[in-house]
Amino acid sequence: MSINENAGLETRFKTKNINFFYGNSQALKNISLDFYNNRVTALIGPSGCGKSTFIRLLNRMNDLIPRTRLEGEVLLDGTNIYDPKVDVVDIRRRVGMVFQKPNPFPKSIYENIAYGLEVNGKRGRAFIQERVEDSLKKAALWKEIKDRLYDNALQLSGGQQQRLCIARCLAVEPEVILFDEPCASLDPISTRKIEELILDLKKYYTIVIVTHNMQQAARIADYTAFLYLGELIEFGTTDQLFTVPKQKMTEEYLTGKFG
Ligand SMILES: Nc1ncnc2c1ncn2[C@@H]1O[C@H](COP(=O)(O)OP(=O)(O)OP(=O)(O)O)[C@@H](O)[C@H]1O
Ligand SMILES: [Mg+2]
Repeated sequence: MSINENAGLETRFKTKNINFFYGNSQALKNISLDFYNNRVTALIGPSGCGKSTFIRLLNRMNDLIPRTRLEGEVLLDGTNIYDPKVDVVDIRRRVGMVFQKPNPFPKSIYENIAYGLEVNGKRGRAFIQERVEDSLKKAALWKEIKDRLYDNALQLSGGQQQRLCIARCLAVEPEVILFDEPCASLDPISTRKIEELILDLKKYYTIVIVTHNMQQAARIADYTAFLYLGELIEFGTTDQLFTVPKQKMTEEYLTGKFG
């Protein structure tokens, strides 16, 4: 991507000098990284390098883990999401998350989506019905399940469950969507569907995805960040990072020399 194309980018999320600790053990070291609106950014790196830790910082999921400590700032549209005045429920609505293993509630497909709306104070049967349908359409699941809305979500296939989790996330109108290895438990066809969906969703959202699959990063990410042992080794357009990495360590990782 040329400098001119970069010029039009709108930074949605910005992390500044992030250090993160589990007890005395430092998992992230001085990470500063920007995420752009309407772009997909991939986080890659060997197991244990801190990808999940980092992505969970972006919607304060790490708050739930005891004895952790964060230094630095995470700015969403310029506001530090760790500011004591910030409402964490609102942050988790604005920054949705989809996990490695699909995790629908053991309730109907309909209720899986309606629940999040109710938690966020949305009321009215007609409104909720419309939003359920709309979210399922956006998640490319509606056609497959429109006659099964009241079936238990656990009866869906893994790929359908993952799209339901995406629909659940979209229903509350997020601005950013975080995906932590969303295709890790899916077959190739379901993986393709999720990838196509992500490419479609990027028109409306800022997307961050952790993936172990280099081909997946190459297929869907505009930008890629390579992490190693808690440090950001390299960040660039996916094209640049994959074809002419600046750091020797990135090249070694991409060519399978370690990891
Ligand atoms: N809840 C926790 N308590 C203590 N240490 C943790 C916790 N979660 C992660 N860690 C440690 O922090 C480091 C980074 O882990 P993290 O899960 O972020 O890595 P990752 O890059 O997502 O790995 P993977 O690719 O295997 O998912 C690892 O050393 C891990 O053992
Ligand atoms: Mg992980």
